[in-house]
Amino acid sequence: MTIQFSTKVLPDSDFKGPKAAAAICGLSGDCLILGYRQSELSQLQALDDLLGGAIAQARNLGDLDGKAGACTLLRSNHAWALSRVRLKRILLVGLGDKESLTDFAKIARSALKQVSGGAIESVLWHTASFLGKQKANQSPVALRERVHLLAQIVGDQVYRFGVRQDQFKTKPVEKADSLKEFTFITSTKQASLMKSAVREGAALVEGMNLTKDLGNLPPNVCTPTFLAHTAQNLSKKSSLKVQVFGEKQIEALGMGSFLAVAKGSETPPQFIIMRHDGGRANEEPIVIVGKGITFDTGGISLKPGEAMDEMKYDMCGAASVFGAMHAVSILNLKKNVIGVVPTCENMPSGRATRPGDIVKSMSGQTIEVLNTDAEGRLILCDALTYVERFKPKAVIDVATLTGACIIALGHVHSGLFSDDEALVKDLTKAGHQSLDTVWRLPLDAAYQEQLKSNFADMANIGGRPAGSVTAACFLSRFAEKFRWAHLDIAGTAWKSGVAKGATGRPVPLLLSFLLDQ
Ligand code: BES
Ligand code: MN
Ligand code: ZN
Repeated sequence: MTIQFSTKVLPDSDFKGPKAAAAICGLSGDCLILGYRQSELSQLQALDDLLGGAIAQARNLGDLDGKAGACTLLRSNHAWALSRVRLKRILLVGLGDKESLTDFAKIARSALKQVSGGAIESVLWHTASFLGKQKANQSPVALRERVHLLAQIVGDQVYRFGVRQDQFKTKPVEKADSLKEFTFITSTKQASLMKSAVREGAALVEGMNLTKDLGNLPPNVCTPTFLAHTAQNLSKKSSLKVQVFGEKQIEALGMGSFLAVAKGSETPPQFIIMRHDGGRANEEPIVIVGKGITFDTGGISLKPGEAMDEMKYDMCGAASVFGAMHAVSILNLKKNVIGVVPTCENMPSGRATRPGDIVKSMSGQTIEVLNTDAEGRLILCDALTYVERFKPKAVIDVATLTGACIIALGHVHSGLFSDDEALVKDLTKAGHQSLDTVWRLPLDAAYQEQLKSNFADMANIGGRPAGSVTAACFLSRFAEKFRWAHLDIAGTAWKSGVAKGATGRPVPLLLSFLLDQ
């Protein structure tokens, strides 16, 4: 069960004046969420008349201080019944004097916490009351991005792992959230804009849920084969055309670098292609490539044991490609988009690649594997060579590529690497719009020096300094034939500790980018 998003048109969707107040009160639902500024509380007078003075009472008690995110819950009583108010609750949410998208997100998160996890099943969101005072914050663009963001926040709030899929706990403790319906109240004027924005927001949540589920699944379930089946199942119910290559075909394609990583595992690698042909037949596609290491032990260059379980998340790049493609197909975007996922395990064994081994990539370039734990770039480089055949308009790869990226950027921004200024601009903008932000790191030729090998065309590591940059430099050698950007999501794809779980990032960024293309 996922949450249902919808819109409801109220011709007079403001809350000022008796007519508007009556319209609001005619709505039925478990809770109406209404934003207010303290300086404008008098505008709620007409509404309060119907509520028997509940707002005035709260104000007199000092409960409506208007601080950003401060919430006051009013419950239906005798007076509401007398004036035929059908709403069961009204949540008044202070807006402070903040206007930015980040402030809006904070305020919305605090409002959503109040209505989630209890008895409330249906929520009505009074869109107009949350719009900023500045003109820029009332524009159609601002409205659309706020709807997407709100859907994302609602989706995060109600997401539970295992409720939607297999349950791994024999005694379930994680109940589904009570919240089932989320309705955006809109004016007639904005109805069509709101409808399409809400539809996009709902697709975003579907995509993110898929990304989170795949990330959170244990590595003995979410294997390369499982990912291939997931893609095939998606294709049965959607526009996606799916192709899967097994070991033999990967070999025939000459992907020696990808196979060098897969060799140590008992589980065979898979190469997954998902196509959404929503554009003209001859239109160049946008290609997204995701790192799909379903478990990264480090291989012979074995990782230390601490928190190694989190290396099940080393397929979060792939999971985000699944999520983005799922959303794209739900929306039936009028564009050609192709998702590509090389997937395997990185395991130590008698058949595993050794440090010092030299392998030949599909591009013909040879690689000296100095550290088998730098495996992401080894599978991605062959995928990048493969996608040349699509003559892409742009290629974006997404990978939990380097621990060094967490040291550089923490868990706030994903690392962005590209020499294409237009792509950098578009991805940065998409990040700001969705609050799924990126920060650009360098890709200068000077760093390429660190990848020199005495025995092959290049080494697969460049030493500790600027580890994320040299990883990106390695990939750049396989991306010379198209416009390309690389996203390192090592710090943003999942959370550790008590809140351990996949975040669904960077699906909001990718979808926002694709919608704007
Ligand atoms: N999947 C890891 C990167 C990673 C580590 C992401 C921890 C998130 C948390 C990647 O395959 C890896 O092991 N990278 C090495 C590269 C090094 C050997 C040059 C790393 O970051 O230590
Ligand atoms: Mn690794
Ligand atoms: Zn890895």
